[in-house]
Amino acid sequence: MIKKTENMKDIRDLFDILNTTVYNGKPLVYFDNAATTQKPRAVIDALTSYYTTLNSNIHRGAHYLSNIATEAYEESRRAVQAFINAKESCEIVFTRGTTESINLVASSFGKEYFTEGDEVIVSGMEHHSNIVPWQLAGAKLRPIPFSDEGVLDLEVFKKLFSSNTKLVAITHVSNTLGTINPIKEIITYAHERNIPVLVDGAQAISHTKVDVQDLDCDFYCFSGHKMYAPMGVGVMYGKKDILEKLPPYQGGGEMIKDVYFEYSTYNTLPFKFEAGTPSVGDVLGLKKAIDFMQEIGIENIAKHENMLLNYAVERMQEIDGMRFIGSAPNKTSVVSFLLGNSHPYDVGVLLDKLGVAVRTGHHCTQPIMDRYEIPGTVRASFAVYNTVEEIDIMINGLRKIAPMLM
Ligand code: ALA
Repeated sequence: MIKKTENMKDIRDLFDILNTTVYNGKPLVYFDNAATTQKPRAVIDALTSYYTTLNSNIHRGAHYLSNIATEAYEESRRAVQAFINAKESCEIVFTRGTTESINLVASSFGKEYFTEGDEVIVSGMEHHSNIVPWQLAGAKLRPIPFSDEGVLDLEVFKKLFSSNTKLVAITHVSNTLGTINPIKEIITYAHERNIPVLVDGAQAISHTKVDVQDLDCDFYCFSGHKMYAPMGVGVMYGKKDILEKLPPYQGGGEMIKDVYFEYSTYNTLPFKFEAGTPSVGDVLGLKKAIDFMQEIGIENIAKHENMLLNYAVERMQEIDGMRFIGSAPNKTSVVSFLLGNSHPYDVGVLLDKLGVAVRTGHHCTQPIMDRYEIPGTVRASFAVYNTVEEIDIMINGLRKIAPMLM
């Protein structure tokens, strides 16, 4: 049992990588969690254990190892189902990550429903992976604008619907601004117009409780690697009745029922959307990451991260030239900022030399940068294992860096 201590020390002890020192002994301060979180030992052990004791291909072997690996893989599916409160386990499709999940829906839904001139409503704060797949599927995008603070304009959203609208595809949480969008309200409004909604949950899943039945979203996509699980595994949740109507995304083994040279028939859900050999070890690791998050409790994770966010913003405000990009009242533990007119990359490189790992650039959200007319931001993003002391290291670093760059 993980103890819920004030400073989360017991939790840090589960992450060996957090003991890393960089550049002649400086402690690593890892603030790039929105890009990928670190993995607790149990997740890493699950990978080793799979490859040392269970490695085999699933669903198709008539042998011992394959049967056990198949059962473990399906147990992970049920764990994901419970984690997001999906009605049935067949609504959980394993993918390589959020990007593949959205591409799957865009390709498959687009093939079935898009015709010339059809539109998808997105927000102005989407990650490129919730923009480009819709363009590839032939849709025209209608973005919802947002305020300087980073809050969506829901009045404009309501006016974007037309007879060409086929879908709303919206991020739950912005990876750049941290804004938590009012997706339930958005879903309700879209459903009143019989328009389905896909939610990009990549940045929400490790910070907020997600209940797909309560949200009533039609699709919910997320990645394992941003919620303490291995890279290479993600989830595409879709309502069963909708998934049943969609054509397969990729062809290959596992997704078929019968194959003839003239035609093929397809497997039932969720296998229809899981062509080829899946990343079994990573899927087993995902279950361990869910166990880890549930043991701490998502509310406790959010509480700790909010405390870090508030502390960081308060202390950073004291620094001359500090400009925050994204200050919505409802946000996760992401702080995007600029220091005077200095280039974000310069700030990032100097912070790195002090041991502080942040991300710089447009964060795969070029339209957000265009909206603010900036080249990029410096982004610090916090996870459950980060501490106030680490934020102090970053603040002291920024105090040193500011006079050098301004
Ligand atoms: N989408 C990831 C991020 O925001 C990589 O950093």
